[in-house]
Amino acid sequence: MRIGNQLYQTIWLDESDPSVVRVIDQQRLPFFFEIKELRSVEDVYNAIDLMTVRGAPLIGAAAAFGIYLAALEITVNTNPLSHLHNAARYLVSCRPTAVNLAWAVDFVMKRLSDEMSAEELADTSRGAAIEICELEKENCRQIGLHGVKLIESISEKKKGEPVNILTHCNAGWLACIDYGTATAPVYLAHDKGIKVHVWVDETRPRNQGARLTAYELGQHGVPYTIIPDNSGGHLMQHNMVDIVIVGSDRTTKAGDSANKTGTYLKALAAADNKIPFYSAVPSTSIDFSILDGIKEVEIEERDPEEVTKIEGLLHGKIEQVRLCPEDAKAANYGFDITPARFITGIITEKGICSATEEGIKEMFPDKFI
Ligand code: MRU
Repeated sequence: MRIGNQLYQTIWLDESDPSVVRVIDQQRLPFFFEIKELRSVEDVYNAIDLMTVRGAPLIGAAAAFGIYLAALEITVNTNPLSHLHNAARYLVSCRPTAVNLAWAVDFVMKRLSDEMSAEELADTSRGAAIEICELEKENCRQIGLHGVKLIESISEKKKGEPVNILTHCNAGWLACIDYGTATAPVYLAHDKGIKVHVWVDETRPRNQGARLTAYELGQHGVPYTIIPDNSGGHLMQHNMVDIVIVGSDRTTKAGDSANKTGTYLKALAAADNKIPFYSAVPSTSIDFSILDGIKEVEIEERDPEEVTKIEGLLHGKIEQVRLCPEDAKAANYGFDITPARFITGIITEKGICSATEEGIKEMFPDKFI
């Protein structure tokens, strides 16, 4: 992704000091573009916890680098593998909903063995973390190639009039390593000269849409309009939305999808208005061990202060203000489940499939053995 004149991905190893992992600080966007250094497992945990890095593929990649940083902490007094297993458990415990976190940690840990020296553990975990980044980039690139066909065909039907795409939260390159999941088809369509316009749900309480998706689309030159989360239904009733494309933190093998809270309500409104609703999902965000999203996915509950307060820029500084009575109670469920029956299709790196066990099995037969 290009920011100004420079190409970025969201996470990388410092070239001059490979004991440092660098990330774009998403707590500071869109007001300040700053890079943060992560030097320990603790730093990685805090970055995920405080949402310096967020989005399913990115927290997975960050945790993978966390295992590498843990390997660098091994001393003669440490039992290497038990130290790494402790780090793995610690990192996975940070956020419960996105399956990428556990998947990525498991991917790295499976490469490590107790026959390896401290140096070999560090080299192998570093290699695995970089491999995850490359895999996620390629997954997103492929999702773009498959998903753009949906936008192309709407554009043809509309005889070149702008295709209006509604998205929720940030399932863009900031949530991934590059390209994004839900945004990859949009960027590709725009680059091909297809006219697109994105309705960006602000995505309370943390406003990932207003802050991050708007920032990304603006950097890429894609026309967009931020809307309050509750406006989508109205826009759909008035033919102002052609397609909804969202990301996913955990899709079950039957197609139910956990994504940022409020996604389900968009799917209901889309179904009522017969508007196609697509979930863009790399296989690393599919939990092939579960079927029923409502019963089996743990929904993260976050600090109620994210609801009672709002953050923005005031006099050049990021500040928070209270929105409600001082003693007001608030609940903050971070995600919700969109049942598969409301999902028109899933855009994966292998192609577009139906949100059914059969459809997903056809795309990823090896995961069903
Ligand atoms: O709480 P966040 O900001 O990590 O939530 C992110 C989302 O809900 C995204 O839509 C999801 O991770 C898909 S990212 C490609």
